[in-house]
Amino acid sequence: MRKSRRADDGGDARLDLHLEREHPIMSTGAIHLLRLIHIVGGVFWVGSVLFLSFYLIPTVQALGPAAGPFMDHLTRVRKLPVGLVLATLLTLASGVLLVWLDSAHFQGAWFRSGPGMTFTAGGTLALVSGVIGFLVSSPTARRLGTLAAAARAAGQPTPDQLQEIQRLQTRLATVGILNAVLLVLATAAMATARYVG
Ligand code: HEM
Repeated sequence: MRKSRRADDGGDARLDLHLEREHPIMSTGAIHLLRLIHIVGGVFWVGSVLFLSFYLIPTVQALGPAAGPFMDHLTRVRKLPVGLVLATLLTLASGVLLVWLDSAHFQGAWFRSGPGMTFTAGGTLALVSGVIGFLVSSPTARRLGTLAAAARAAGQPTPDQLQEIQRLQTRLATVGILNAVLLVLATAAMATARYVG
C-alpha cells in the first residue's frame, strides 16, 4: 500500500489528485518500477528523436553515400530501430497503465482535474507522435535502408535511386522535426502536470 503524504505535508490538495492515491491493485514497489520504466523509456525515446532529427539526419544528408556504411551498421548491426520501437511501446503502455491507476480506472473526475487534463494532453501528444513514428518514419527509414543497400551493392546509385533517396531523407527529416516538437511538448506537460490547477 502506498503511504499518503497528505498527513505529512500539511495537506497539499494538488498532491491528492494522483500519485498519492493508494492503489489496492499494485504494490508500491510495482508502481515505482512502472514509473521507472515509463520515465527511462520516455527519456530514451525523446532523446533519440531529438538526436536523430537535429544532428544525425542532417549529417547523413550532408555526407550523402559516404554515410551509407555508418547507417547500415547503426540500423542493421546495432539495431537502433528495435531499441526505438521498444522504448516507444514501453513508454506508451506504461503511460496508459499510469493513467488507469491515477484515474481510479478511468473515472471522469481525474480527467477534469488540472493534473489529469495535463497528463492526458501530454499523453495524447506522445501517442500522436508514436503513431506518426510507426506509420511514417519507420516505413520511410526501412525503404531508405533497402534503397541505399541496393545502390551500394551496385557500386553507386543510379540518378533515379539518388533522387528517391533524397526525397525519402527529406520526408524523414520533416517528420522527425514534427515528432521532436510533439515530444518536447509532451515532456513539458509531463514535467508540470502535477502542479497544474
Ligand atoms: C514523450 C513521452 C513521455 C515522457 C517523456 C513522459 C515522462 C513522464 C515523467 C517524467 C513523469 C513523472 C512526472 C511526475 O512524477 O511529476 C510522467 C508521469 C506520468 N505520465 Fe508520462 N511521459 C510520456 C508519455 C506518456 C504517455 C503516452 C502517457 C499516457 C498515455 C503518460 C502518462 C503519464 C501519467 C499518468 C503520469 C503520472 C504517473 C504517476 O502518477 O506517478 N505519459 N511521465
